[in-house]
Amino acid sequence: MAMRHQGTLNRPNPLPREVAPGIFWLGECLEQRQQGKIYHGCNASFLIVGETASMLVETGHPKDFPITEGQLNKLLPGRPPLKYLFVTHQETPHCGGLGRVLTRFPDAILVGDVSDYHLAFPQHEHRMRMMKEHDEIDLGGRSFRAVEPVVRDMRTTWWGFETRERVLFPGDGFAYSHYHEDHHCGLVAEEATSLDLQDTTAVFSDLALWWTKWADMRNYCARLDLLMERLQVKTVCPTHGLVITDVAKTMPKVKEGLLFGSAAAERGTNEAKFTAPDLVEETA
Ligand SMILES: [Fe+2]
Ligand SMILES: [Fe+2]
Ligand SMILES: [Zn+2]
Ligand SMILES: [Zn+2]
Repeated sequence: MAMRHQGTLNRPNPLPREVAPGIFWLGECLEQRQQGKIYHGCNASFLIVGETASMLVETGHPKDFPITEGQLNKLLPGRPPLKYLFVTHQETPHCGGLGRVLTRFPDAILVGDVSDYHLAFPQHEHRMRMMKEHDEIDLGGRSFRAVEPVVRDMRTTWWGFETRERVLFPGDGFAYSHYHEDHHCGLVAEEATSLDLQDTTAVFSDLALWWTKWADMRNYCARLDLLMERLQVKTVCPTHGLVITDVAKTMPKVKEGLLFGSAAAERGTNEAKFTAPDLVEETA
């Protein structure tokens, strides 16, 4: 049992990592095959430590829970207790550890758009608080605010924003990952110099954000610019991407990736070996 806390990959886990003062990146990469390489998806969660309360943003993938729990148990002693769990939306890699977090941390309440969670966890219903845009939670010296989810894949999605260090938690926004072969695990985007944001964003469009292929992503890019500008975001902590610490440098590449991902034809998921010309020949 103790071994599982070491991680499930055949390599040391570089997380947790403090990515802004008092904000820790938790979890571990999730391996899958893609384009004949080992694709690493991130299903991150983040711990925000305030002066009076700590907050967990996202729960991580269900298979990571023992790892995330171990990281929390290491980080929390001597720090303000975990009083809040915020999840961006009702999908497994974002909230798949929700019941376990509420059970293990009895002082914590669930915040965000909490629709439907009571159906799975009626015993915790009294610990669920609805948030809407602009609602803010005081953590002591820093607050957490619900903000416009520019890239949303559910009606109930909210993004989060930490006010002191100006950190954005965009859930499925900024979704791209990295190949194991590139050794990018646990690096911030600016350190991962060989990170191909076009390619890895396109993989994510195939796997998770398929609707982006049917939308004009220029509108979403413009809206994203507006949000980043309005909030003066300094750090971006995506659930499925490397953390961004230099917004001015990396944002243009993220937007290129979104536009490329929505314009590229679907490349097939996982181990599919066929290409578009193969399909034409077979049906001819
Ligand atoms: Fe999602
Ligand atoms: Fe997701
Ligand atoms: Zn790796
Ligand atoms: Zn990785």
